Amino acid sequence: MAETQPAAADLPRTDQLSPRDGFRALWTLRHGTAGLYEALEVARRGLGPVFELGFGRFRPVVVASPGGLREALVEQREAFSWRPEGDPVARLFRRSILVTDGEEHDRARQAMAPAFEPARLREQAGAILAIVDEEVRRWPAEGWIEPVEAMRRIAWRVFEQVFFGYRLGQEELEATLPGLHAALRYIGPGLWVLRGRAGAPPRRAALLEEHVRRVIAWRGEHGEPGATLLDLLLAEFATERVRDHALTMLIAGHDTSTAQLSWALHLLARHPEWLARATREARAAPAGEGLAALRGDGLPVIDAVLKEVLRLWPPIHVGGRRTVREVEIDGYRLAAGQRVMLSYLLVQRDPATWARADVFDPGRWLDGGAPGPFTYVPFGGGPRNCIGAGFANLEGRLVLARILQLVDVAVTRRPLRGAMGATLEPRGGRLKVRRR
Ligand code: HEM
Repeated sequence: MAETQPAAADLPRTDQLSPRDGFRALWTLRHGTAGLYEALEVARRGLGPVFELGFGRFRPVVVASPGGLREALVEQREAFSWRPEGDPVARLFRRSILVTDGEEHDRARQAMAPAFEPARLREQAGAILAIVDEEVRRWPAEGWIEPVEAMRRIAWRVFEQVFFGYRLGQEELEATLPGLHAALRYIGPGLWVLRGRAGAPPRRAALLEEHVRRVIAWRGEHGEPGATLLDLLLAEFATERVRDHALTMLIAGHDTSTAQLSWALHLLARHPEWLARATREARAAPAGEGLAALRGDGLPVIDAVLKEVLRLWPPIHVGGRRTVREVEIDGYRLAAGQRVMLSYLLVQRDPATWARADVFDPGRWLDGGAPGPFTYVPFGGGPRNCIGAGFANLEGRLVLARILQLVDVAVTRRPLRGAMGATLEPRGGRLKVRRR
């Protein structure tokens, strides 16, 4: 007789946690939803890799096993949709690549693909380095920087240069920044999940929207067919859809790199041995065009640092989904309409697969790789993985190497923790730097 599968109702649930673990999970929430990722770790330790999270009406199933991820991302992927209608991401971005499914999504992905060809991205290396130089010149000769905001300026300007062909000046950046912050706060986790529907985007986010519309109009007049992502969008879609995709890509393409690079600086400042090795490597590498032309294994330590950053603190630490039909994941039957959270963070920190899972150790990447398929998934997986992964890797190594060429980063012992906003970002205070 065929074995019957346990139904979702039989899934381990967070209200079955021991009183001690239950209290610890709740205690992490003293930071508000920003601390939710820690509660997930406590729950996984107590309940295993697949469980139901219970917050009032918000009851997603968390999937945190490599096999479960493979099923959800590849083998059973048509059983899932990406964004429910009331999600703030859907309300702000509307019908963009990050919101839609099926043919509508595939058409957008196909239209954008040429902008991500590796050879084309490599041509941008010089422009990326020029932006780093310009931004670092604005830092104090010796003083403090706030890594998240310092990296945001770089990643945002790099994004617009590479993908919109637009030179974002300091004045326009400053004027638009409050709009960007408002949009990021709006799409981060919030109490709306308990209501099931977010309110309208905040009025201040209009500053960002107006900026994006201005850039679209400018590029419409000054662009070159097919030269940038924005030119490809303009050739394929009507203005409103160009707005949806451009706004989406601007956020998806810079907030993630912002998180990765700011985690890298914070973690290096707390691991002097890796700071010294990465700095030595960067300074032994050529500057300027030489650095831009470096290929493949030219910066092994810096690449290992960046990989380890994405393992321990993946900026997109969960993939949110909803089942569109009944589906079996990792031996559990999930009903149609079930919210699901694919936890990339929990899989990447699972002590069952990773040695010293919670320790920042870039050395693990110099000696080997991930312990198995779907154990390292900072860019998701399957056909809807991150379209920008190749670019993010190039940008990360160029920006980090160039910063270490230009400044000394001081070691610190200040505590460091994560906060779940639109991405999982570091909260570790300011860092001391000295320009060389
Ligand atoms: C370190 C940097 C980055 C990280 C860690 C990252 C991470 C991810 C992850 C985990 C996903 C899958 C989400 C899911 O399964 O729900 C994703 C999707 C996506 N990413 Fe990235 N990303 C990064 C950089 C970028 C860049 C630079 C761009 C664009 C220039 C970009 C654009 C996108 C888009 C459009 C998708 C959705 C793809 C689709 O639905 O077909 N990302 N990213």
